[in-house]
Amino acid sequence: MSIVEQSRQDDVLILTIQNPPVNAFGVGVPEGLHAGLDVAASDDSIRAVVIIGGGRTFVAGADIRTFDLPREQTPDLRGTVDRLDRFEKPTVAAIHGTALGGGLELALACSYRVAVPDAQLGLPEVKLGVLPGAGGTQRLPRVVGVQRALEMMLSGTPVRADEAAQLGLVDQLVQGDLLTGAVQFAREHADARPLPRVSERQAEGGSPEVFAAARAGLQKTHRGQLSPGFIVDLAEMAATQPFEQGWDAEARLFMQAKDSPQSRGLRHIFFAEREAGKIPGLGKDTPQTEIRTAGIIGAGTMGGGIAMNFLNVGIPVTIVETSQEALDRGLSVVRRNYENTAKKGRMTMEDVERRMALLTPTLNMEDLKDADIIIEAVFENMDVKKDIFTRLDGIAKPGAILATNTSTLDVNEIASVTSRPESVIGLHFFSPANVMRLLEIVRADKTSQTVLATSMALARRIKKVGVVVGVCDGFVGNRMVHRYGDEARKLVEEGARPQDADAAMHALGLPMGPFEMSDMAGLDVGYLIRQHQAKVAGAPKPDGWLDRIVEQGRKGQKTQAGIYDYPDGRKPVPAASTDELLSTYRQEKGLTPREVTQEEATKRLVYSLVNEGAQILDEGIAQRASDIDVIYVYGYGFPAYRGGPMQYADEQGLQNVAADLERYGQTPAPLLKRLAEEGKTFSSYDRERTRG
Ligand code: CAA
Repeated sequence: MSIVEQSRQDDVLILTIQNPPVNAFGVGVPEGLHAGLDVAASDDSIRAVVIIGGGRTFVAGADIRTFDLPREQTPDLRGTVDRLDRFEKPTVAAIHGTALGGGLELALACSYRVAVPDAQLGLPEVKLGVLPGAGGTQRLPRVVGVQRALEMMLSGTPVRADEAAQLGLVDQLVQGDLLTGAVQFAREHADARPLPRVSERQAEGGSPEVFAAARAGLQKTHRGQLSPGFIVDLAEMAATQPFEQGWDAEARLFMQAKDSPQSRGLRHIFFAEREAGKIPGLGKDTPQTEIRTAGIIGAGTMGGGIAMNFLNVGIPVTIVETSQEALDRGLSVVRRNYENTAKKGRMTMEDVERRMALLTPTLNMEDLKDADIIIEAVFENMDVKKDIFTRLDGIAKPGAILATNTSTLDVNEIASVTSRPESVIGLHFFSPANVMRLLEIVRADKTSQTVLATSMALARRIKKVGVVVGVCDGFVGNRMVHRYGDEARKLVEEGARPQDADAAMHALGLPMGPFEMSDMAGLDVGYLIRQHQAKVAGAPKPDGWLDRIVEQGRKGQKTQAGIYDYPDGRKPVPAASTDELLSTYRQEKGLTPREVTQEEATKRLVYSLVNEGAQILDEGIAQRASDIDVIYVYGYGFPAYRGGPMQYADEQGLQNVAADLERYGQTPAPLLKRLAEEGKTFSSYDRERTRG
């Protein structure tokens, strides 16, 4: 079967693109379209051409997998678009599913666009660190106006066809069969001359103020990123220059953006996210349990946040607490969160009530007997969790999934107190649980395939990115973050100020550095763990500088004082008391402070994550390096345009990473050392293992 099928309905030639799963503009598509256009050009009985996608969608974009191929091997989207723009007979793009990126650019070069009302049209290239590279930056402003085009190109968010019709982006909506409607439309417009060409239109609304505002806005939405600035520059060209000039500039800037580490990072995360959903040995036909109702134990910050995920997709939740007061407090927090969303206009009060009506509070754990999944979200204490699971074992119906939201504890040990360890799994949500997209799915030794497959599907249903991890202290995310925290503390002992370490991470694009994060999480949590561990080990009472801060009663943001001061309750301000404490501490411990450069701070902090990540990978706790990146981007705010810590290390070169680790007194993990010696990358390691 050809990638572009030709068929005829009398005087209309139909070109159907068949490149599953999403009809990406890949190898063979331009050849097929050119062949079709050749036929249409040479046959006088053909009066118009319809281009349509076979299967579930129109063209969902350029084939991202071809971006790293040598230029001469990449499918020639620009050449195809250019030919369509000049074609002498009417061309009609018939759109269903998604017309994204190169797909919409193809449609914009046709004479007309028709679509089913629920089709989605957009230019999402910015999300991949590139820009519309086949005329999109020049044509979209000429159709929908500069302001709207900028919004679409900078957010990457598509619009539904019915809205697109109002914007003039779709010429006609087709109710019923798309092909029939498109052919009829093509016939009706077969004799239209001159043919409408977007490239000949003017872009409206491009005042200097609009571009100045767009550039200023980028500081907030896309700070440090390359391609959004290019998009604004190109939209300005669309408004002020002849089409050809913008078209040429676009090609140049597209290549520059595509070849940047930022685009490589974003493309890496695009595929990593999809790869994370694939579990070796877990077939697509693995039976799943149907999840119709959920139970949650604990109505604290985590429990309430977790409940919201289920309520948002219409799954009823029964939530259990030990006191009426805790239950009332938990429910009022959930309600307040929803009401705040409603105040911002992102949901109606009816939506709030509909969600709240799905939430049943109870003090009786027996009420969970019919739940298909039960998630325990109480505080981190093994004895308490074991007690809950012992009781749940006697209450939950057979086949119900019993999940723990533990962030560090041994899920095997928790499962061992039940008579059905195969039903037990860890579902580690990240705070705030109704916002953060990551879900670490902790597979214990005896977790069944069904429970694992159901949990993965559930993650998708509640709009999370699920990543499967193995059991160890802290799993993937928190285990790495512990090492990062240790390194940050050391940096300060050696002479850096806490705000220097945080600034190094801001410079990399993280919203928070290690100390801002600790203050937000609460310093007492780590303090208690350190004290407990020392006691268990019979070691002396820990006396680090951070311990001393906690002993001053400064527990972080919640006490309005931690490593930083919080005069307005939220914004950290460097604290004089911390400077004094550090100076006394260093004196007492005989530490001579030295200057720590931002480069050193960045390397030591990020590479501590990478080094622990390599160890985790080697132990099989994470399945792929790319899974670790997904965890850091979706759970810890690592900028997606850096691709996650492992991809960042690949970009730096693993030899350099290993050498720097040694230079700064850390021992490279064996896997990292080996890959560095063999001149390999984490990506190549992932690829080899997938093939193997
Ligand atoms: N190129 C290559 N592969 C693609 C692709 C693309 N543009 N879009 C999707 N795929 C692949 C996915 O990797 C996935 O592959 P596997 O099954 O092997 O994992 C498969 O198609 C299905 O994708 P999803 O799982 O994402 O399916 P979905 O139904 O949830 O979503 C979609 C479909 C909305 C199209 C989504 O895949 C998407 O957003 N794709 C990216 C669209 C995009 O960014 N297009 C612009 C490309 S850049 C461009 O066009 C540049 C230019 O101007 C020249």
